[in-house]
Amino acid sequence: MNTPLIDPFQRAIRYLRVSVTDRCDFRCVYCMSEQMTFLPKAELLTLEELDRMCSTFIRMGVEKLRITGGEPLVRRGILTFFNAMGRHLESGALKELTVTTNGSQLARFANDLAAAGVRRINVSLDTLDEEKFAAITRWGRLPQVLSGIDAAQKAGLRVKINAVALKGFNEDELFRLVEWCAERDMDLTFIEVMPMGDIGNENRLGQYWALSDLRARLAENYSLLDLAERTGGPARYVKLEETGQKIGFITPLTHNFCESCNRVRLTCTGELFMCLGQEDNADLRAPLRANPETDAPLEEAIRAAIARKPKGHDFDYTRQELGGQMSRHMSHTGG
Ligand code: GTP
Ligand code: 5AD
Ligand code: SF4
Repeated sequence: MNTPLIDPFQRAIRYLRVSVTDRCDFRCVYCMSEQMTFLPKAELLTLEELDRMCSTFIRMGVEKLRITGGEPLVRRGILTFFNAMGRHLESGALKELTVTTNGSQLARFANDLAAAGVRRINVSLDTLDEEKFAAITRWGRLPQVLSGIDAAQKAGLRVKINAVALKGFNEDELFRLVEWCAERDMDLTFIEVMPMGDIGNENRLGQYWALSDLRARLAENYSLLDLAERTGGPARYVKLEETGQKIGFITPLTHNFCESCNRVRLTCTGELFMCLGQEDNADLRAPLRANPETDAPLEEAIRAAIARKPKGHDFDYTRQELGGQMSRHMSHTGG
């Protein structure tokens, strides 16, 4: 095992989330505005550069790699990158290679992802109602995602559904989502909506549904057993005793989990964000591109960045206004 990077708060950094594109084939209302300006191609790290970047982090102790976006599976040639990362799984340096996707391209990619060594994927899905799905994603179509999930399960991938809890939107589907996941043997995690990026005319505070409330509603129909189990992500899990299924809660607003943060985020242009909820970032593309022969300057830049990792985010809705709002969109840093 490589010695991990340690931040100023003695947290070991073992988890790298990599956003491989800022583009997406959906336009979820809490994530993007309808008119988005995307980055020009020349700004992006090439697939070879992404490989060099991730391999350096793995040498420096990263054991879990999650590929995100935008929608990671719309990045051209992305399978080449997944296959390349497979060598770190084989060597044992990398323990988990995984992806967070909107599911739209899974029918096409599921078998290849499994062949590359992916075992578990997270699919974002907030509603099972076709019309509501079209409304929340603006451009998405539910049947396409459902057949993607079918393909993933057929390929032997373990699927976790991520649903953003949205007031007045999927409140009435709480039990339907839970039952649907139980029937299909999928885990389910709810996420509190965070103030990330300009989303046009949408009202963030109006969207916010506290998971403490969602949990209380769940407890009206099920007995909840708190689990100590961790996947290396921020979710805390409960088991529903009646069905045996696992439900996760990601609660950046009602219960801050920053003290156990083990991750950093790389964007598709090579910026490293040490926290999802802070603006500070480090340019890793410059030391990478300026030194084709050696990774030493890149390693030095990574150490310097980790030494600035902040204690946590400042998201806060308690004053009936958006505290800790970020100017960048979730698709920039990949959630
Ligand atoms: P597993 O536990 O491995 O399934 O992964 P995960 O929960 O880390 O990954 P996933 O991509 O499913 O993350 C779900 C969402 O949780 C992200 O899209 C973010 O919205 C949120 N999230 C993940 N990490 C952080 C974090 O460090 N801070 C905050 N505030 N939110 C996070
Ligand atoms: N707050 C919380 N979750 C968000 N996501 C996108 N934008 C937000 C936000 N503002 C979720 C997506 C996906 C994951 C990558 O992040 O639904 O599950
Ligand atoms: Fe695309 Fe995911 Fe953002 Fe929806 S939440 S627009 S699927 S990146």
